Amino acid sequence: MGGGECVRMEKKYEQFKGQSRLPKFAVPKRYDINLKPDLVTCKFAGAVEITVDVVTDTKFIVLNAVDLSVDRNSVRFTDPRGSKVSEVLGVELFEQDEIMVVEFPQNLPLGLGVLCIAFEGTLNDKMKGFYRSTYSHCGEKKNMAVTQFEPADARRCFPCWDEPACKATFKITLEVPSELVALSNMPVVDENVDGKIKTIQYQESPIMSTYLVAVVIGLFDYVEDHTSDGIKVRVYSQVGKANQGKFALDVAVKTLGLYKSYFAVPYSLPKLDMVAIPDFAAGAMENYGLVTYRETALLYDDKHSAAANKQRVATVVAHELAHQWFGNLVTMEWWTHLWLNEGFATWVSYLATDSLFPEWKIWTQFLDESAEGLRLDGLAESHPIEVEVNHACEIEEIFDAISYRKGASVIRMLQSYLGPECFQRALASYIKKYACSNAKTEDLWTVLEEESGEPVNNLMNSWTKQKGYPVVSVKVKDQNLEFEQSQFLLSGSCEDGQWIVPITLCCGSYDTCKNFLLQVKSETMDVKEFVGSKDNLVETRAWIKLNVDQAGFYRVKYDEGLSSRLRYAIETKCLSATDRFGILDDSYALCMACQQPLASLLTLMGAYREELEYTVLSNLISISSRIARIAADAAPELLEYIKQFFISLFQYSAEKLGWDPKQGESHLDAMLRGELLTALAQFGHDITQNEARRRFDAFLNDKNTPLLPPDIRKAAYVAVMQDVSTSNRSGYELLLKVYRETDQSQEKTRILGSLACCSDPDIVLEVLNFLLSPEVRSQDAVYGIHVNIEGRETAWRWLKDNWDHISKTWGSGFLITRFVSAIVSPFSSWEKACEVEEFFASRAKPSISRTLKQSVERVHINAKWVQSIQNEKHLAEVVQELAHRKH
Ligand code: BES
Ligand code: ZN
Repeated sequence: MGGGECVRMEKKYEQFKGQSRLPKFAVPKRYDINLKPDLVTCKFAGAVEITVDVVTDTKFIVLNAVDLSVDRNSVRFTDPRGSKVSEVLGVELFEQDEIMVVEFPQNLPLGLGVLCIAFEGTLNDKMKGFYRSTYSHCGEKKNMAVTQFEPADARRCFPCWDEPACKATFKITLEVPSELVALSNMPVVDENVDGKIKTIQYQESPIMSTYLVAVVIGLFDYVEDHTSDGIKVRVYSQVGKANQGKFALDVAVKTLGLYKSYFAVPYSLPKLDMVAIPDFAAGAMENYGLVTYRETALLYDDKHSAAANKQRVATVVAHELAHQWFGNLVTMEWWTHLWLNEGFATWVSYLATDSLFPEWKIWTQFLDESAEGLRLDGLAESHPIEVEVNHACEIEEIFDAISYRKGASVIRMLQSYLGPECFQRALASYIKKYACSNAKTEDLWTVLEEESGEPVNNLMNSWTKQKGYPVVSVKVKDQNLEFEQSQFLLSGSCEDGQWIVPITLCCGSYDTCKNFLLQVKSETMDVKEFVGSKDNLVETRAWIKLNVDQAGFYRVKYDEGLSSRLRYAIETKCLSATDRFGILDDSYALCMACQQPLASLLTLMGAYREELEYTVLSNLISISSRIARIAADAAPELLEYIKQFFISLFQYSAEKLGWDPKQGESHLDAMLRGELLTALAQFGHDITQNEARRRFDAFLNDKNTPLLPPDIRKAAYVAVMQDVSTSNRSGYELLLKVYRETDQSQEKTRILGSLACCSDPDIVLEVLNFLLSPEVRSQDAVYGIHVNIEGRETAWRWLKDNWDHISKTWGSGFLITRFVSAIVSPFSSWEKACEVEEFFASRAKPSISRTLKQSVERVHINAKWVQSIQNEKHLAEVVQELAHRKH
């Protein structure tokens, strides 16, 4: 080809490059896909016949493909019967744009036609597209072939219109080694064994998006059950672990029934398979009819799993099955509406879990979701729930706390505003209306608006189209309550967002409630009537709590008088667990934003001495750890007192629970015990540490000892690591030995999460290097990167030294963002923020840019917070007083 021709070619294809979405000259209707993976060479061969509808006059067909080698001579376009063949002028692949263009000498006939393409590819090691995972069987290392296509990696397996709105049917055929299990979205319709190879044909799927197509090929065992509708449900696991699938199987069968009645539409496929994959980037993936999971999110072992593991399995299964309706049957029109998938699945999973396990008080635990959403959305570098997405590489980063947790929280807020019955009716009619189709956020609002008669669109746009959320300040003035909203930012900077805020409040009792929509910046409310005729708002000591039950996605800042009434209400046990959670979390956030002294936060924390509720204590623990971190920088001379105070806070409940499980005790107590003991060990409580080590020794002698059940193992491991140093390595070596000997992934994860809890920087470095070794699957390395404050510098140096390797290994997925945020965010100085920015200036890539900005912002916030704490006048007195006050 001459230079001139080359330029001309570039020109005519230019129009297709750099676009965020494909041109829709032709749209796919049906894919007939044949895949033949070779698990030894890790290559695959494939062919696809795509029935398309040509809807505009065009000489081009443009579709997605990447990392595939397309056999240009194989590309053909025929009429639906395959008789009339159109000549193909050229086939070009543009790797950067992840597209291929097929050019024809003249316009294609309008209407149906079939595009045929043969291609080859590699089973990669990146946990996306069509990839390789490994396992051992009878002592031999083996490969399996797995797909992970969300968000935009089906194009790595076969050429396709890889956008959620391009729904089509899929007819899949696999050619695989005869001895293996081969699964796809649909049941098998035909199987043909020919010596070492078998050809399996699957039933054609209903219409669905490419990101939900899946295949899994490997050796598995399974357990099976049926729903009352006769849908066959199976859980596949590694050979020998089938029993560990029983819990998830039971949850799945029940959950399918629940969703069928909640959404008023049955599950739409004839079977559901759920498979544990040893190498898996996300937690789980909702592929239609073939849901894939990390082992830790699917398998439950009576002997070796903790209560927290059990809960994780139940919620993940409930989440992925919710997608079978919300996402798979009704799909977001574009990634901007990803939150419709993830926010809803998250929220719905709580409905199901609550119905199956009411004793877990899962709606109280939901507040963890909201708290994390609020935490991320308090950054200036946050983004709106509905976020513009232009390039495929930007999509993965929005699978974040905004789409999931803020998304789920604003749904809960809306449900609580409209009422559960009305909300459910509307959801069912939304699912019915958009089944087998695509929807945008506003489509949902429209249905809800019709069903409820409330201005849903207006109300919700203020929450999904702008980032951030308000803090509502309340003050008592004369006989009135004054409410004022302003945007809450942890950095303390000002932005002028405004929301339509569903305000709820109670006064003195949960029987005295009021609610209204705060639609403007500030409003005054006459409370005479509300408080009761006898009482006077100023004189009464009645508490006033806003955002009752923490149903709204906002924070509340009380004036001093109201704050102390609430503190007293907590001490005297007048408030619900959700409200106790909210008061603490808001106060913590206000403190971090330098709108409230640390001394008042600590004083408030003192009101939680007799707290026994899991979710509240769990948040109290994590807030304590964060305060201890900031205090190490801001007030090192007070750190010991602060730790002492925290220890005293946890002793009441820790003593109540003891070390040994009580017969028939609750799930929440089992989870709480583990967290309390871990915290006590981390804060250096001698008695806890000694007892933990004693039990660890017993465990080393007998892995089944009743002295160290799974719920408290993490506490023991953390205690052991606290003691390790270069001159006393034995605890570390022993833990590594346990890691190497177990084949249980939850146990491995627990150990990885404990190893870096050591204050000797040399050991921390060793641990971090261990994470990069072949002994740790690349999916698991992120569990081990959370270091103590003493290890902060070491981790940062390690990240810099190993950046090329880390970037190569994890750079093509979202896991790399965890390295950046976990290692950068703990710093608290302006200099460090600059250093980080400098380091990444030449290394930035689009897939981490958002996370990097957010992490640097956190460093700024910490730096400001340190300064503010250093300027506090009475901190020392308050801290010492609290530390000495015994229960
Ligand atoms: N659709 C996601 C899986 C996913 C995540 C694909 C990120 C691509 C990128 C799946 O439904 C999901 O949300 N999984 C969660 C678990 C869930 C219980 C929150 C996960 O992977 O953490
Ligand atoms: Zn999801």
